Amino acid sequence: MTRRAFLSLIAALLLSSLTLQAGSAPIRARTGMVVSQSDIASQVGFQVIKSGGNAIDAAVATAFALAVTHPTAGNIGGGGFLVYREGTGAATSYDFREKAPAGATPEMWLKDGKYDFDLHHNSHRSVGVPGTVAGLHMAWKEKGTKPWKDLVQPAVVLARDGFEVSHGLARSLSGMLDEFKRYPASLAQFSRNGQPYQAGELLKQPDLARTLQRIADQGPAGFYEGETADLLEKEMKANGGLITRADLKAYQARKRDVVRGTYRGHEIIGMAPPSSGGIGVITMLNILEGYDLKANGYGSVKNLHLITESMRRAFADRAQYIGDPDFVTNIPVDRLISKEYGETLRKTISPTKASKSSPTTFTWPTESQETTHLSVVDAQRNAVSLTYTLEYGYGSRIVVPGAGFLLNNEMGDFNAGPGLTNEQGLVGTPPNLAQVGKRMLSSMSPTIVTKDGKLLMVTGSPGGRTIINTVLMTILNVIDFGMNAQEAVDAGRMHHQWLPDRLSVERFGFSADSLNALRAMGHTVSEAGGQGVAEVIVLNQKDDMLEGGMDRRAPDGGAAGK
Ligand code: GLY
Repeated sequence: MTRRAFLSLIAALLLSSLTLQAGSAPIRARTGMVVSQSDIASQVGFQVIKSGGNAIDAAVATAFALAVTHPTAGNIGGGGFLVYREGTGAATSYDFREKAPAGATPEMWLKDGKYDFDLHHNSHRSVGVPGTVAGLHMAWKEKGTKPWKDLVQPAVVLARDGFEVSHGLARSLSGMLDEFKRYPASLAQFSRNGQPYQAGELLKQPDLARTLQRIADQGPAGFYEGETADLLEKEMKANGGLITRADLKAYQARKRDVVRGTYRGHEIIGMAPPSSGGIGVITMLNILEGYDLKANGYGSVKNLHLITESMRRAFADRAQYIGDPDFVTNIPVDRLISKEYGETLRKTISPTKASKSSPTTFTWPTESQETTHLSVVDAQRNAVSLTYTLEYGYGSRIVVPGAGFLLNNEMGDFNAGPGLTNEQGLVGTPPNLAQVGKRMLSSMSPTIVTKDGKLLMVTGSPGGRTIINTVLMTILNVIDFGMNAQEAVDAGRMHHQWLPDRLSVERFGFSADSLNALRAMGHTVSEAGGQGVAEVIVLNQKDDMLEGGMDRRAPDGGAAGK
């Protein structure tokens, strides 16, 4: 496709599809809908649906486009999870989380016996073997209908011919300039001769375009073998990184059974480990099902307290039990998501007093707020909930010279080292220690909700560990409080993760009276900026109408549908 043809296609789509209106009205569409953190990428995905593709086709095209237009977290050098539910009811998931390369050990973040934060999070060693290309290809091969090449090609064109830098991206790239200066290929790709891009300028990424073209032509071999693999290995070798061509060739995505729970007559379909999200969301919903949240009232102190206590408990279990199931074979999934266990946890909650998190149990390493989510529903009501990530914003900030894509720093999601749990935020519990070929624990929580056997909701968000709680709150907003998709996304959010023992609430999300009442109950409450960026689609079952909720907490997002 020529640049002119592609740009006119996008322009036509922008006119023909709906765009977000002010207020809390969701975008409505019947044929299909894509919601993501990049308006351009959503349009690319919706065009696939319009031309007869299904939700998987659209999700693959959107994800590749995001790798160009949303470099903060859209990626081919990272990993993620895709939960898929067919309109007819069958559900499955694809795990394309990064893996530790050969040479990884539980002690790999220690230097002279001491934990080294930069080695863990800001080095070539923090890069995990990327999974995105393998995962998208696996999902497409099993469930897609359109030619693979057609789904990657729009991303090739966007990278080759460029796209207009938005105000949000210009600000973000400018803020990252010093980081990019550490790596010449990153600086070359994301600045104009060392100067920040201005809004309205065209960002072209020719090396990325060539890599995407190889992926379009050769499938995963265009990434995991040949020139791309050579370039990645060269960058690793020159800078003390571990990943080799052999690690890349050996990478396999995994198809996994979804985890399922119920909440007030709805079915919750979530991602299994190595995500902690599916289990976490279901554990919390099981606890909360025993309370009448609706009668208590939206935003009531009672509800805020009960939701916080549910979060506290689910996060304690996260650290204690969950890791890569290919290595940690004794994760008690069935118990953690059972109604009985929810009841057991509920009984430990005082209605009037905050519990205390014990510092001798678990705490977590620093985790980034970055990652990105997309939700897709097609005409047959097949649904995709896909969250993928580079870990930090722009991942390791390392662009592979000559290959033009950013590498993740996902190895930072492994625990710091054996026994290194401390109050300052390190964790050293066994399930999530680095090992060769292991996937690091994740909080990404792509989730699908059904009612009476029919699709009701697709939800997910970026935000590190806050993801699990953001997803929980979007579900409560729809099921308990009857909000539409946009209201559910707009509503205030909060986060508790067991330790540190602190409830973080969005500034302006809740009243000062409520926060003071929570403090009086013993909660340590702090106010924070925006939590997550949820991308939600709700199917209004009565009218068979899709309603999209796009999160204004981040710039540039878009819902495309008709
Ligand atoms: N890197 C964020 C997550 O996987 O939870």
